[in-house]
Amino acid sequence: KKVVRRITCVGAGYVGGPTCAMIANKCPHITVTVVDMNQAKIDEWNSDSLPIFEPGLEEIVMKCRGTNLFFSSDVPQAIRDADLIFISVNTPTKMYGKGKGMAPDLKYVESVARSIAEHAEGPKIVVEKSTVPVKAAESILSILRDAQRTNNNLTFQVLSNPEFLAEGTAMRDLSNPDRVLIGGEDSEEGAKAVAALVEVYESWVPRERIITTNTWSSELSKLVANAFLAQRISSINSVSAICEATGADVSEVAHAVGFDTRIGNKFLNASVGFGGSCFQKDVLSLVYLCESLHLNKAAEYWHGVIEINNWQRRRFADKIVAELFNTVAGKKIAVFGFAFKKNTGDTRESSAIHVCKHLMEEQANLHIYDPKVTESQMRSELAIESSEKNVTKLVTVHSDPYEAAKDAHAVVILTEWDEFKTYDYSRIFNSMVHPAALFDGRLLLKKKEMESIGFRFFGIGTAPNHLTRVGFAATP
Ligand code: NAI
Repeated sequence: KKVVRRITCVGAGYVGGPTCAMIANKCPHITVTVVDMNQAKIDEWNSDSLPIFEPGLEEIVMKCRGTNLFFSSDVPQAIRDADLIFISVNTPTKMYGKGKGMAPDLKYVESVARSIAEHAEGPKIVVEKSTVPVKAAESILSILRDAQRTNNNLTFQVLSNPEFLAEGTAMRDLSNPDRVLIGGEDSEEGAKAVAALVEVYESWVPRERIITTNTWSSELSKLVANAFLAQRISSINSVSAICEATGADVSEVAHAVGFDTRIGNKFLNASVGFGGSCFQKDVLSLVYLCESLHLNKAAEYWHGVIEINNWQRRRFADKIVAELFNTVAGKKIAVFGFAFKKNTGDTRESSAIHVCKHLMEEQANLHIYDPKVTESQMRSELAIESSEKNVTKLVTVHSDPYEAAKDAHAVVILTEWDEFKTYDYSRIFNSMVHPAALFDGRLLLKKKEMESIGFRFFGIGTAPNHLTRVGFAATP
């Protein structure tokens, strides 16, 4: 007999929604309820237009919803009903008080722990799915143990089970994960709880890909995994700057270096910088952790990853201004892509926001097109970085890329949407102000091809022509 029959997930976001849809799909014997305090979001999960876009998500939700997958805002009821509760609420960088701008804000995680303590009537396995600093499980457990003092029907085990899905490929990652990581208490009860969660995943994940560790290793592994991923991007981006100054080509370098099996060829694409709600937040969380432990060298080392990312965004924006004859004030600039990466409508920490912000500081008129991001989303993200007044004055949002580019001095590609590769760039070129520039922040287009159309072309990590023609390194 299976131990876990009823799962509740608190937090119906980018992680909670897809993860629970996958569990419901793969485990027909389990009833999965996803709850959120945001009623509007729950209504959307229950409607025909889901609150988030992920390839393959809608099919599974439509298949399982109402059978063994439910969305509700009744948090207390869902807590009472569950054998196992996932906490997958947001843990954004704290914007106030101690650790401001560095530490993750754990107030949402704590409030879920308090709700569980208040409403649980029997034994529960509580699973941290949110990304948290090392030892967060201890705080959750202290809150739960306190409830146990007054009600001896209650027993709690807290597990760490960080999520490694990537937005844009969430369903594929969930259905075929590289690994599932479960950390638990080093005790008989801990081992039992770990086994119960292993059993859930074993419904579709091969046992050898389910790693079990102690709680703290599991919590730390998530931060370290994201720090390593972000570091690879910053590493290749630092190389892209060397390429631009010398005539080496970053794609060729990445290809040559990635052939080494110890290095590997994934995650070596130079770009305008990483974005998304996780990399920056989790690296900063690791930096904060190092600082709290007085490991200042380690803190500095990881902070470099963030510094390179900010520098790369700035460098790209500066390049645009420089190449447009050092002034973009009043010029129309078309921006292709606003999401932080392709196949998602998520804009959190998108590099596009930062590049647009720099261009707005120079008074450029931005004409933005993105296939999945709504106009209001773009405007509110930019208003946070700039001001509502500036956004009204400088930003126009288009639903047609050709309209966005018409009469523009430049097209700037900021997200790697596949459709950007398929456009008729001759048509775009002919509709623009000449000389027309194309800035490829995602290495999507072929330089030679674009130049033969007539564009002045600038790709990340590729040298401008005067360098490659004569073939010598720029003197510093
Ligand atoms: P999200 O912001 O999309 O969703 C979180 C949801 O939790 C929101 O809908 C919010 O209303 C709800 N919530 C907050 N406090 C609540 C409470 N007390 N009761 C009920 N609902 C509450 O966040 P997302 O992106 O799903 O991230 C969740 C966690 O997973 C974060 O810790 C994040 O670092 C981590 N993570 C995110 C990944 C991603 O790709 N987005 C990937 C791996 C981990």
